[in-house]
Amino acid sequence: MAKTPDGKNTSGRGQRDLTVKVKTARGRTSSSTRWLQRQLNDPYVKRAQIEGYRGRAAFKIMELDDKFRFLVPGARVLDLGCAPGGWCQVAVPRVNALGEKKGKAIGRIVGVDLQEVEPIAGCEIHQLDFMADDADQQVKDWLGGKADVVMSDMAASSSGHKQTDHLRIIALCEAAAYLAFDVLEVGGTFVSKVLAGGAEGELQTLLKKRFDKVANVKPPASRADSSEKFVIATGFRG
Ligand SMILES: C[S@@+](CC[C@H](N)C(=O)[O-])C[C@H]1O[C@@H](n2cnc3c(N)ncnc32)[C@H](O)[C@@H]1O
Repeated sequence: MAKTPDGKNTSGRGQRDLTVKVKTARGRTSSSTRWLQRQLNDPYVKRAQIEGYRGRAAFKIMELDDKFRFLVPGARVLDLGCAPGGWCQVAVPRVNALGEKKGKAIGRIVGVDLQEVEPIAGCEIHQLDFMADDADQQVKDWLGGKADVVMSDMAASSSGHKQTDHLRIIALCEAAAYLAFDVLEVGGTFVSKVLAGGAEGELQTLLKKRFDKVANVKPPASRADSSEKFVIATGFRG
């Protein structure tokens, strides 16, 4: 019988396909009605509920890792902007953080976020702004050494202005890349969300200087109408 990441059974739940229609209500704008309707009918939102993941974002890292295989047993992983914890939940069994795959190396996961995160077995989670001065030393202390993987699904809070939001996320991503340069092991992998929109060229140039390969991917779980994509840089040169 299938289990959720928290060990609960999944059978018999969410088997019927019921499309939910949301009526407009007083005080709710038409865009929030559309958002709610999309959320209630999103197959990845339903799957996350059935399989016990904290959000649909879990499927993005699952699909990226199925393609690039960076979450391997024994890997040391730093998850930047980890709240509410979906990416960490996916990483736990894949890096064997709980030692459940006997005979395989045991990995380690450190998650950091500005927000508090409910504990996840197999992860060490800290409330931290990754841009803090000593963040690189702190994460190395928590990981017990350098990281094999630095992954970031960070998003700056939306300003409502597309171009401003794009520049903010690219700045966040560049800052995450500089942290990765400080904490990654040679040969390591950097995964980061970016928004397509014009300013990401410099980031690509920066990554190409420091990694053997840089790929841009839009996993199926990333909404088609969003400009979000993911950059996967492998083979850190140090
Ligand atoms: C889209 S959520 C991450 C979802 C997560 N990957 C998951 O699967 O649950 C983005 C997170 O980035 C965090 N974040 C944004 N800026 C940050 C910063 N400077 N330091 C740490 N976390 C940050 C936000 O607080 C937010 O929780």
